[in-house]
Amino acid sequence: MTKTINVLFLAAEADPFVKVGGLGDVAGSLPKALRSLSNDDIKLDVRLVLPYHPVIKADNLNRLETYSIDRNNSQVEVEAFETSIDDLPVYLINGEAIRANGSVYSADSKLDAEKYVFFSLAALKLPKHINWIPDVIHANDWHTALSLYGNLTKRWEEGAKHIANVMTVHNLPFLGPDVKDILESYGIKLAQTDLPDWARVMPMPLGLWASDAIVAVSPTYGNEILTEEFGSGLSEFFQVRRESMSGILNGIDTDSFDPTTDKAIGVNYDSNAVHKRAINKKLLQDRLEFPLDENIPLIGIISRMDNQKGVDIAFSALKTMKKINFQAVILGTGDPKLEEAAQNLQNLFPEKIKTQLRFDAGMARQIYAGADMLLMPSRYEPCGLAQMIAMRYGCVPIVRAIGGLNDTVTQNFTGFVFEKASHLSLVATIKKALKSFADKEAWKKIQQNGMAQDFSWNASAKEYLKLYLSLIKE
Ligand code: GLC
Repeated sequence: MTKTINVLFLAAEADPFVKVGGLGDVAGSLPKALRSLSNDDIKLDVRLVLPYHPVIKADNLNRLETYSIDRNNSQVEVEAFETSIDDLPVYLINGEAIRANGSVYSADSKLDAEKYVFFSLAALKLPKHINWIPDVIHANDWHTALSLYGNLTKRWEEGAKHIANVMTVHNLPFLGPDVKDILESYGIKLAQTDLPDWARVMPMPLGLWASDAIVAVSPTYGNEILTEEFGSGLSEFFQVRRESMSGILNGIDTDSFDPTTDKAIGVNYDSNAVHKRAINKKLLQDRLEFPLDENIPLIGIISRMDNQKGVDIAFSALKTMKKINFQAVILGTGDPKLEEAAQNLQNLFPEKIKTQLRFDAGMARQIYAGADMLLMPSRYEPCGLAQMIAMRYGCVPIVRAIGGLNDTVTQNFTGFVFEKASHLSLVATIKKALKSFADKEAWKKIQQNGMAQDFSWNASAKEYLKLYLSLIKE
């Protein structure tokens, strides 16, 4: 007999509907990867639920019957739409709080609080309206965490089915705004928890508290959040919950990020033809108006301009490398101060550094396919996707030994690793990499080692399936 596992998978963003960062990549890939694990013994019916952000342009939507959720003494209307993508059922939830808030994440935390409390509670009620009962609710980050808390409070009702709660932590420091009043207006009380007082009014801590299983997006990050340095004030809580915590490394979309087929790059290649990257490097140098010289190392930075990503550390490092012959391209947007610092760097070294302050997926791929190295000196990095994409393209990552970077890059084998979040450590490591770069055979080996790594979603999806099964059995 086939066993069916129904999973309600909730996220604020998912590719291709809407994507702001890594969460969108994960929510766009993992549900599909899970579904494709289905076989004769097990059917994994994963369904994705997203807010119908006004920025989402979707067609072929099937409008479901409108329903409502209680708030104070009135009813709040929920509009739900159904669609699918490669066999994955997707539901888009709309309502006043979602329409009121144009972007995915707002600078106004009040708008975000209203939106994501509404979304989490409305999504929790969706299964009843589609006659489909989940075995697991799988939430991601603070935006959807309250669905887990809502599910837990429902469990206290008599006769309610036990639906397991899974929370994946992508970015812990974003705990979400104070939602006490909003939650209470929806009739949900704050329980006595073992959370610190300041935390028990916030979505992420409440969701974590309500979780049967807490998953960090890499094993190292799973251990790091147990410490004061990375625990965002919750390290003691995590230590108590240690038994229900694990780390499951994200994958990347290996169909989309494939140097043998990628249409955005000049020449396709595989690991037996890494030399062809030289053509892509020339094209990139040309596009950036650099001297066309294969022997000058070309360093890439593809990143949100964000303190988390340590781009300032990378900028300081490049600044000190006056005597070294290199080229660097910086691609990304974000914090205006960091954007300005990136621009200043180009002004300072116009013949060495090119700054491209925009989001440009095509150029990112050309950098993966043509640059020699990629810098990721993150202050913290739950998983990180760029280093995995880089390796797949034979672009050698230089990363800090933390979080997912630590779990995916091996020193001197697939990349270069340093410990301290300081530009001097980074410079020392770049110098090691440059030495290796000068030895063509050694460098090729590192590139090929990276290209041979398996970063597909399959392995991660299997781990999640194991986790689901363990929770349903209990
Ligand atoms: C967040 C984290 C990043 C991770 C991504 C997907 O953006 O900062 O490290 O790769 O989520 O889990």
